[in-house]
Amino acid sequence: MSSEQPLLVVLGATGNQGGSVLSYFLSLSPSPYALRGVTRNLSSPKSTALAARGVEMTLGNFDDPSSLDTAFKGASIIFSVTDFWPAFFDPAQRQEAAASGQSIGAFCRELELQQSRNIINAAAKVTTLKHFIFSSIPNSQKISNGKYEHVYHFEGKGLAQEYGQSAHPKLWEKTTVFYAGLYLENWLSGAGVLLQPKLNKDTDTLVFSLGETLGTASFPIYSSVDDTGALVHSLLRTAPGKKVIGVNEWLSFRDVATLLAQVLGKSIEFVNEDPSFDMGDPDLEKENAEMMGFCVEFGYDGGKVDKSIVQPADLGVPLQLQSVKEWCAKQDWESILQVV
Ligand SMILES: NC(=O)c1ccc[n+]([C@@H]2O[C@H](COP(=O)([O-])OP(=O)(O)OC[C@H]3O[C@@H](n4cnc5c(N)ncnc54)[C@H](OP(=O)(O)O)[C@@H]3O)[C@@H](O)[C@H]2O)c1
Repeated sequence: MSSEQPLLVVLGATGNQGGSVLSYFLSLSPSPYALRGVTRNLSSPKSTALAARGVEMTLGNFDDPSSLDTAFKGASIIFSVTDFWPAFFDPAQRQEAAASGQSIGAFCRELELQQSRNIINAAAKVTTLKHFIFSSIPNSQKISNGKYEHVYHFEGKGLAQEYGQSAHPKLWEKTTVFYAGLYLENWLSGAGVLLQPKLNKDTDTLVFSLGETLGTASFPIYSSVDDTGALVHSLLRTAPGKKVIGVNEWLSFRDVATLLAQVLGKSIEFVNEDPSFDMGDPDLEKENAEMMGFCVEFGYDGGKVDKSIVQPADLGVPLQLQSVKEWCAKQDWESILQVV
């Protein structure tokens, strides 16, 4: 990579979204950008693998503003993403939250919001910056007028957008807000007992207990690993100042289940009972149940209220993504199916 190339700095470089951005541009020959990835651990296997592929890996921590100043030096483009979840599941953080009289969700919302403020403040100082891509999700609390007030992993990201817009309007003119759609990878991780495909061995049937309302609601589905990079490339070929939903296909959970059954050559049965959010963790259950309620009522992206959201197909640039069915066909479902 030549030093003449504009520099793309990627946060969350070792994660799903940031890793996808780097992999995508590494796969282009030549890459239009010099690539720098930010991590807290330069010796992790993911970081060393990226360095071996030619990414300049650099230390940076969202909690440490001066490390972000260093990491952003000379950037033409910054891709930003924050991670709500590690603190949510960390027993030490749960203790700290309890000691401060906060629920773990509210505590993590503040933590993620402060990390976003640090990133935004540092990005606003970069004189070479042309385009800031801010991965986010809508403020569910605000859009629902307080009805869904426990979807903290949405709310903190939405509050961060509001902070960026009001505290750094000049930066916001150069910003595209990227609403990462619902990950297909959730189907692999068991992140929702809800989404977990179950196999009735006797009848060779996939069984889904999604309920009617949730099962048929439309979600922006995409692969964070396979699709983020191409979506970000399409954002970089259009002017900033937009809010774009990162979607491959708008599908219901029943649609995804049907595609999966087709790929696996199995029949399908939908059980119409109310979906269970039983995850053995009341805070997580509340977070997820309210998130799904918000998505059904207001749309995952708040799009039933916020009419400013742009679909990737309307950006006016070519975008080639594998279909969701093709994605399903590439996965190893044997280890994921829960036999009932
Ligand atoms: N699951 C879904 O359907 C979905 C949909 C939309 C949005 N999201 C959101 O996506 C976010 C997670 O993104 P992801 O899936 O790309 O992440 P991920 O794969 O879980 O990886 C987390 C990344 O963030 C970096 N990171 C975490 N804390 C950091 C800190 N304090 N300083 C510097 N880097 C830090 C990690 O880097 P190192 O460990 O290398 O430092 C790693 O690269 C969450 O906030 C979630 O709410 C999820």
